[in-house]
Amino acid sequence: MAVNLAVLASGRGSNFKSILQAIEAGDLDSSVKILVTDRGNAGALRIAEEYDVNSKYIPYDRDNRRAFEEQAGDLIEENECDLIVMAGYMRVLTPYFIRRFENRILNIHPSLLPAFKGLHAQRQALEYGVKISGCTVHIASEDMDSGPIIAQRAVPVFDDDTEESLSERILGEEHKLYPIAIREYAEKLELI
Ligand code: GAR
Repeated sequence: MAVNLAVLASGRGSNFKSILQAIEAGDLDSSVKILVTDRGNAGALRIAEEYDVNSKYIPYDRDNRRAFEEQAGDLIEENECDLIVMAGYMRVLTPYFIRRFENRILNIHPSLLPAFKGLHAQRQALEYGVKISGCTVHIASEDMDSGPIIAQRAVPVFDDDTEESLSERILGEEHKLYPIAIREYAEKLELI
């Protein structure tokens, strides 16, 4: 039995790609049924095309977040997805969406939560001066970057790190961690 995934992404899509590569390599028994993005120029759209994954761009209106989430939610249900994976999805989900898919939404964040929630987590880590940072996969809850933690990976922070060099080091771990965490969580829910 394979777990059916929906992916939400806003940007480059390298985490999305790492999930597709893990599926291709046989490391994750899964199928991405749909990619949904809030940005018409998201790199993730090109990756979906490359891997023959259905995709949908839904324009996002800050003043009507519910409209995006209703459309996305309907598509996700129509595609019979078991889990929703946020892969660089840069909008805050409303309680409506979280409740509609309770315990079925995963997020990856580039810090060791609960430290450095929100935007620019890597910059926040550098500014604080921590010596270790990393990434976290967690179940999405109504508060941003909160919810039960599924998995974490740590990386060192070096004195001469820049936001770019630290982000790159963390991203390397994100790509390894996300497919593993998705598999573990899907197994726990007996989806695979
Ligand atoms: C990743 O570093 C991800 O952890 C982060 O955005 C990047 C997306 O990269 N997400 C967040 O900060 C969410 N709070 P990608 O588009 O190449 O996967």
